[in-house]
Amino acid sequence: MRKLIAGNWKMNGLRADGIALARALVERVGGTRASSDLVLCPPATLLMAVAEVIRGGPIALGGQDCHTEAKGAHTGDISAAMLRDAGCRYVILGHSERRSDHHESGALICAKVAAALAAGLVPIVCVGETTEERDRGEALTVVASQLAGSLPDDIGSTSLVIAYEPVWAIGTGRTPSTEDVAAVHAHIRRELAGKVADAAATLILYGGSVKPGNAGELLSVANVDGALVGGASLVTDDFWAIAKAAGGG
Ligand code: PGA
Repeated sequence: MRKLIAGNWKMNGLRADGIALARALVERVGGTRASSDLVLCPPATLLMAVAEVIRGGPIALGGQDCHTEAKGAHTGDISAAMLRDAGCRYVILGHSERRSDHHESGALICAKVAAALAAGLVPIVCVGETTEERDRGEALTVVASQLAGSLPDDIGSTSLVIAYEPVWAIGTGRTPSTEDVAAVHAHIRRELAGKVADAAATLILYGGSVKPGNAGELLSVANVDGALVGGASLVTDDFWAIAKAAGGG
């Protein structure tokens, strides 16, 4: 299965930085035959500019969130159709920073996933436990209940990506053991089997402090089909090293 490496720029990047970052990556990809898929998820203000830079090449574009409705009176929001129109193929949904900063519920994320699918986007649905939940031994049940709450019932065999991102590993430099990653990813695969027709083919990414130094190990764990990369995606050398660890270089 081809691995997917997605860069989540979060709220980082002014126009010049974003364009330079995307250009540098396009240059790296240049003459090589990429054997993994790369996605850039810049802030909404940079979507069109990055789309222009990566146009015609193998790098795909993704949004970081979308609204549940296609259009309407929702000041400050962006619809899935708008992301698609800006050149996106993917959209990150239910990231823990949105679940906490914007109090996003499972029901809201579920409606966003449905909206993304209806607009022809591939949702990258994030799940993951907090430190307290892991310490209480609840990682698997939390992830299962987030999956149950965030995925529409009639999802069928539509294209979908899951990202397991333990909240305590995001931006902290800490990562779970490979055994823990393997256990959660296997659990996600089992849970998906009851939800989607092609669970065996659904990509399950790991996210949380993925760096060049740990990418090879994390990406070799069973059922880890790629990575959702935050901080390291803002540094061309680091993101490219992670892509290479996934077989992309
Ligand atoms: P990080 O972020 O790689 O900076 O830990 C990952 C994410 O939040 O997607």
